[in-house]
Amino acid sequence: MKKAGGKQKKPQTVGDKAEVLEKDAMALKDSQTSAEGKAEEEVGGGDPEVEKLPEGQEGEAEEEGEEEVTVPVTAASQVWIKTRQYVGTPRRQDFLLKSEELRCIEDGEILVKALCWTVEHYMRIFDIPLGSTMIGEQVATVVDSRHPDFPVTSLVVVPTGWRTFSIVNPGVTLVREVPDLAGLPVSLCLGTLGLPGLTAYFGLLDICQAMNGDVVLVNAAAGCVGSLVGQLAKLQNCSVIGFAGSKARCDWMRELGFDHVFNYNAVNPGAAVRRAAPNGVDCYFDNVGAGFTEDVLGCVKPMGRVCVCGDVATYRQQLPEEYKPDPYRLVSLIKRRVSTHTVFDFAHRFAEAEARLLDWVHQGKLRYQHTEYSGFRQLPEALAALYDGEKAGKLVVTSDDDQPPLLKADDVIE
Ligand SMILES: NC(=O)c1ccc[n+]([C@@H]2O[C@H](COP(=O)([O-])OP(=O)(O)OC[C@H]3O[C@@H](n4cnc5c(N)ncnc54)[C@H](OP(=O)(O)O)[C@@H]3O)[C@@H](O)[C@H]2O)c1
Repeated sequence: MKKAGGKQKKPQTVGDKAEVLEKDAMALKDSQTSAEGKAEEEVGGGDPEVEKLPEGQEGEAEEEGEEEVTVPVTAASQVWIKTRQYVGTPRRQDFLLKSEELRCIEDGEILVKALCWTVEHYMRIFDIPLGSTMIGEQVATVVDSRHPDFPVTSLVVVPTGWRTFSIVNPGVTLVREVPDLAGLPVSLCLGTLGLPGLTAYFGLLDICQAMNGDVVLVNAAAGCVGSLVGQLAKLQNCSVIGFAGSKARCDWMRELGFDHVFNYNAVNPGAAVRRAAPNGVDCYFDNVGAGFTEDVLGCVKPMGRVCVCGDVATYRQQLPEEYKPDPYRLVSLIKRRVSTHTVFDFAHRFAEAEARLLDWVHQGKLRYQHTEYSGFRQLPEALAALYDGEKAGKLVVTSDDDQPPLLKADDVIE
């Protein structure tokens, strides 16, 4: 290990930051022994960059308090690395938990500590190189800052992946500020106000252009995106047909006010849609693809609008791309307007969408469910639960602070 940072000289700011540092120094003192032990237990073992504070050193910053100092902060972050290609559902054996020492931040950067992480299908779909840190968004708190717009203690959403601490340059990476949630959980910024909510918003309102009186069909409709699509469609005075795979999930859709609810394991989707919408479907929001879409695409009216959001039915197939079922090759596309999008096509309008979605949540017009896993170490299990586990609504993993705390620069001596 190397010594990070140097002797502190000049007073700049202490305030909130000192409080955070003090808390973290205390936490370091309390927990480092167990943190080291735990990291070594992991598959393949990490090399935690955590050292015991010399006796009495933890109070040093305050004792020198007459001459205020800004303490450069460095952190030992835990990171999950992808080490194996998935076969079907991702499993814990596909990942390795490691510890990583971070340098001190530079001008324009912030150091953030994760509060909660999302798990989403793109983590299964994107073929990231083996040996890379797992991708994904997290809600985090700023613990050190050299950026004027993101002071210490601000809350942000950052795409820094499966890590407990991250250095971010907001000039380079999309950093979203957590809005005033008035008591709602911050994990909302990973669901209704996060990429799934934004995906539902732009997919339905911009791509499908759902409007008063339209018939909207949505599948995976009890999931995070689908349940929001259905509710947003109701806010547009549309008639909504939703499909999910169990009774409990169908009941949830009924609670949300969907007009027609079907269990795709119990009915033929095409026949059910023809019954529910004999004059055809105006907007089809497709999260599933494959056989489901082959069945229902013919129910979409000529000039109807189709938003190809995802094809969750194929995510665990081992077939090469060219062999995956692709119902959109079919001739039934003619006269239908099919668009695919990634939510980032609308990145310039995230703030607008977030404000409207939050307003609807506050008014009780958008409802949500979360299934929470507790602890950074649970991320692989949470990802597997996207496919195999019992869950309702958005899956999130919250920090239980089972992680090496912040290290003050002068305390990292190797
Ligand atoms: N384009 C974008 O930028 C973007 C952004 C975010 C998400 N997405 C896509 O949006 C879709 C929904 O994401 P989400 O976050 O809402 O996921 P989610 O909450 O996990 O919901 C997905 C649901 O799909 C259903 N499902 C799984 N396999 C199925 C199958 N073979 N046939 C029919 N239904 C199946 C399951 O519900 P049941 O058990 O009830 O069937 C599952 O809960 C995914 O395809 C995702 O990739 C796209």
